[in-house]
Amino acid sequence: MIARSAHALPRQPISSLLEHLEAGGLDGLRRARALGPDATIDLIGEAGIRGRGGAGFPAGRKWRGIAGALSNRGGRFVVVNAAEGEPGTFKDRALLRANPYLVIEGALVAAATLSAPRIVIATKASYRTELQAITSAAAELIAGGHTDGVEITVVEGPDHYLYGEETAMLEVIEGEDPLPRHLPPYQYGLFTTSPQLGWSAGSGPSAGGAEANPTPDQADNPVLVNNVETYAHVALVCRNGADWYRSMGTDQSPGPTIVTVSGDVQRAAVAEIELGQPLGEVIDELSGGPGSGRTIKAVLSGVSNPALTADKLDAPISHEHLIEAGGGLGSAGFIVYDDTRNMVDVAYQVARFLHVESCGQCNPCKTGTGDITTALEGLVAGTGEPSAHLTVIERRLTTVTDASRCYLPTQAKQLVASLLRLHPDDLAERLAGRPGDLDVVLPKLVDLADGVAIVDPRQHHKQADWTYRETPVRFSPNAR
Ligand SMILES: Cc1cc2nc3c(=O)[nH]c(=O)nc-3n(C[C@H](O)[C@H](O)[C@H](O)COP(=O)(O)O)c2cc1C
Ligand code: SF4
Repeated sequence: MIARSAHALPRQPISSLLEHLEAGGLDGLRRARALGPDATIDLIGEAGIRGRGGAGFPAGRKWRGIAGALSNRGGRFVVVNAAEGEPGTFKDRALLRANPYLVIEGALVAAATLSAPRIVIATKASYRTELQAITSAAAELIAGGHTDGVEITVVEGPDHYLYGEETAMLEVIEGEDPLPRHLPPYQYGLFTTSPQLGWSAGSGPSAGGAEANPTPDQADNPVLVNNVETYAHVALVCRNGADWYRSMGTDQSPGPTIVTVSGDVQRAAVAEIELGQPLGEVIDELSGGPGSGRTIKAVLSGVSNPALTADKLDAPISHEHLIEAGGGLGSAGFIVYDDTRNMVDVAYQVARFLHVESCGQCNPCKTGTGDITTALEGLVAGTGEPSAHLTVIERRLTTVTDASRCYLPTQAKQLVASLLRLHPDDLAERLAGRPGDLDVVLPKLVDLADGVAIVDPRQHHKQADWTYRETPVRFSPNAR
């Protein structure tokens, strides 16, 4: 089940450039430089690398679009999305700890291919171990003369979930808060000199002025944003070829991937597998499955896809198979809930997380997730009129995505609706007034080692305005 040999994630961390070179490191970069931009993008397209940040967008297509966009101002930028904030996911931090050289090598391939003079590695200030690993790897690569003059900057961003959303990430790189933009990175990038009035909530370099309205074929400093793991795969494909990559996984989801398993399991785990393995077998092998005498009731892939029920555990782990099963692969962070859980209680945690993390630029998103959270909290606490709570939830689920700039409210809608729809007995129990558990854990992970997942203790203290309170926050005035 675990990948036959390590690909991106080595068994032992690679802690020096010498070790990276001994493992075949920089062969991929040399090959890409020899191939040139066109052939490198073809190679990535033939391999079928899909982005590992959640949506699974084909990397070759993204790179081709940026290579074709004529920059009307300055240069192109390559951004490594190392924000990893999806609940239940620890794969990017595992990779940054164990193989930072491979990630930077992939970003250097991108810089060479797109003629980008600058790479920005955007991670979180709180990820101290990863920051140390990536910073010293970058310094070694620069000192070794392997970067071809490309500047590498490491940005230490905030803990907010939205920081991982690619346009919010560009705002943070420019020194602003993580507030998503209207325009995508390939169209409107970093440090532009002719901003489009009114699209940015911040006051930084992209906020004022009324001059430009870039079109896709004439972009303003276009930026490539890919996930940490995607860059590692780029380096491996350049080293080993497209056939090697396609010898793993499925036709539509080729290659290996790093999965995280947490929740109601015997041990939390992060490991590299080849795509196409059955979900239930992977959970069992990596985590030992649920506790003694318990069975799996539901599996979430972070908070970005509808939930899966136990009868879908045979589904192979791939984009297409998990979508067919009613869920999605996301960033392969599988959160397991066992048969002791009521899924209304889980839905409350999901709604609450997304409401708190919503930035409030779009009113239906912030107020809608807020109303859903309050109503679910009432149902779980057993306070108020249950049918009135349900009416609020149903109504807000139809409007929460209205006029949304980003995907966050769609996540709320899909996941909350799926948990309630797929578990009618659980809903009936709460509608009958039976109180539940207000403290089910939605594992926003701060560490994962030796089978133990550490969940962020501050998340329940975070308020909807992104400040923290000393005591845990309750959203419903009636909740106990
Ligand atoms: C609310 C939200 C949070 C996100 N968080 C992350 C994240 O932590 N890490 C990440 O790589 N992508 C995250 N994404 C996806 C990015 O916007 C973007 O699609 C991704 O970095 C592209 O890389 P890829 O094509 O290599 O997957 C998030 C998206 C949304 C809507
Ligand atoms: S949809 Fe929600 S999270 Fe996204 S930008 Fe709008 S308010 Fe912010």
